[in-house]
Amino acid sequence: MKNIILTSALIASALISAPTFAAPAKLAVCAACHGQDGNSPIPGYPTLAGKDKAYLVEQLNAFKNDTRADAVIPNNMNNQAKGLSDAEIDELSAHFSTQAPK
Ligand code: HEC
Repeated sequence: MKNIILTSALIASALISAPTFAAPAKLAVCAACHGQDGNSPIPGYPTLAGKDKAYLVEQLNAFKNDTRADAVIPNNMNNQAKGLSDAEIDELSAHFSTQAPK
């Protein structure tokens, strides 16, 4: 009986503290222009929510190695991408690709 109570308490506390997946560390930077959930608050700035993860990774790498130029704010996305590691590109792309476009 004691074990059952203890187990239930552990399950309950695990449920209460269940982590909503930690946001990528660099998300705040991107969120200023693309929105926390990838739905851009600024007209003309692309929405990233729900876009294919592989597409987002490809675009960030293209900005990073200057094979894609930023047509809206010269060099901005190139500089943003140059500050990202491969792991951060992967993490941010995964985050935005799994958000719902509005
Ligand atoms: C100062 C505003 C600003 C910030 C900060 C910013 N972006 Fe952007 N981003 C833009 C604009 C504007 C474009 C469109 C560039 C173009 O079309 O040439 C863009 C384009 C992109 C694209 C390509 C989208 C597509 O549909 O092809 C991706 C991916 C992206 N940004 C990701 C990010 C990530 C990840 C961050 C954070 C590390 C970030 N951006 C930070 C303004 C910003």
